[in-house]
Amino acid sequence: MMDDDNWQVIDRPEEGEAVCFDLQAEMRLFDGAVVNVSEQGFVVCFQGELRAWRNHCPHAGSPLDWIPGQFFDADGQLLVCHTHHAEFEPLSGECIAGPCPRGLYALPIKELNKAIAVPLRIVL
Ligand code: FES
Repeated sequence: MMDDDNWQVIDRPEEGEAVCFDLQAEMRLFDGAVVNVSEQGFVVCFQGELRAWRNHCPHAGSPLDWIPGQFFDADGQLLVCHTHHAEFEPLSGECIAGPCPRGLYALPIKELNKAIAVPLRIVL
């Protein structure tokens, strides 16, 4: 559950496109220390549905896009990590090809009228 003040409003992506946003992530280290790091998320619209993902590849942690905001493959059917070419289902985040050990990290999303709301902060 997220606080009401932990949301930011961003533009809704068009079909087959993505919109990126910045957020803060709180991480607990092995020694118990807590650090805050800057992160990026992105929202995709695919087959009329919206999903928000952390822009962090589960393989080696790089951002998925090498051109800012470009996440879909040439056919527009899959999300691709441009570092080692892992492929993910846009709606489930499941990894279907490549070296990723698991799927994408889902972020919460709220649909508003013509915009959407995504988190300002997450805890990893
Ligand atoms: S960092 Fe994404 S596939 Fe390796």
